[in-house]
Amino acid sequence: MRIAVIGGTGLIGSQVVKLLEAAGHEAEPHSPSTGLDLLSGQGLPEALKGADVVVNLTNSPTFDDASPAFFRTSMDNLLAAAGDAHVGHAVVLSIVGADRVPDLVYYRAKVLQEDLLKAGPVPYSIVRATQFFEFVDAVLSWTADEHTVRLPATPIQPMAAADVARAVADVSAGPPLRGTREVAGPEVFALDELGRITLAARGDDRPVVTDPTAGMFAAVPGDAIIAGAGAVIAPTTYGEWLSTRAG
Ligand SMILES: NC(=O)c1ccc[n+]([C@@H]2O[C@H](COP(=O)([O-])OP(=O)(O)OC[C@H]3O[C@@H](n4cnc5c(N)ncnc54)[C@H](OP(=O)(O)O)[C@@H]3O)[C@@H](O)[C@H]2O)c1
Repeated sequence: MRIAVIGGTGLIGSQVVKLLEAAGHEAEPHSPSTGLDLLSGQGLPEALKGADVVVNLTNSPTFDDASPAFFRTSMDNLLAAAGDAHVGHAVVLSIVGADRVPDLVYYRAKVLQEDLLKAGPVPYSIVRATQFFEFVDAVLSWTADEHTVRLPATPIQPMAAADVARAVADVSAGPPLRGTREVAGPEVFALDELGRITLAARGDDRPVVTDPTAGMFAAVPGDAIIAGAGAVIAPTTYGEWLSTRAG
């Protein structure tokens, strides 16, 4: 199949392109650096001409109040162009529990992206993943200073970006789900404990102070971002991933 991967130079997109190519598909990465801008629509008709599938792995440059406009404009442009080009399947990557965290504007923006896809003219699939292991260092840095890291005890079920990419590639190469597949990591951690494990693995002796008000994940109620019973559980544990990185 011919598969256009928009955001195909990013963390997930670049791995999805490799997996699809390895499975015998013709997967083409697109992004501003290749001349495709989803916000202006530049390069979209050319990228989608003859494509069987379009996979949208772009991300908003910020997680703030600008994110809904990014996802609205990018999806409006993508769906109009995919409809015109008679693309048979559109895939987006969203977040487990996004609809259960109304206080986070970025999560509301991801729900908006899903809703636009569902209402659009192209048969669709949504893959909802949990937080990437690769994202943990950024989460720690937002509420760290040179002495401590402050984190809430929010339950979190993170997973390796490589496992996310595998799930996205599998769905992209199959028929449209006309629904959502959830994928999640094999373990649930309290976020403050995940911070302690991460710092210890890095030889960083700063203490993690449990603070229910610290950072973006303070806005997550209860088990809101933990996967449901039907989720596909990814194989890679955080310990395995950390040791691979250290090696
Ligand atoms: N972080 C998490 O834990 C998590 C969890 C679940 C789901 N997700 C979702 O996963 C998706 C992919 O995340 P990621 O970390 O792989 O993103 P990323 O590494 O930041 O990559 C984003 C990609 O989008 C491209 N892009 C940005 N603006 C664009 C535009 N206007 N037009 C076309 N392409 C554009 C970038 O191109 P350039 O490189 O040229 O800028 C890049 O290829 C996101 O939608 C995110 O919501 C994330």
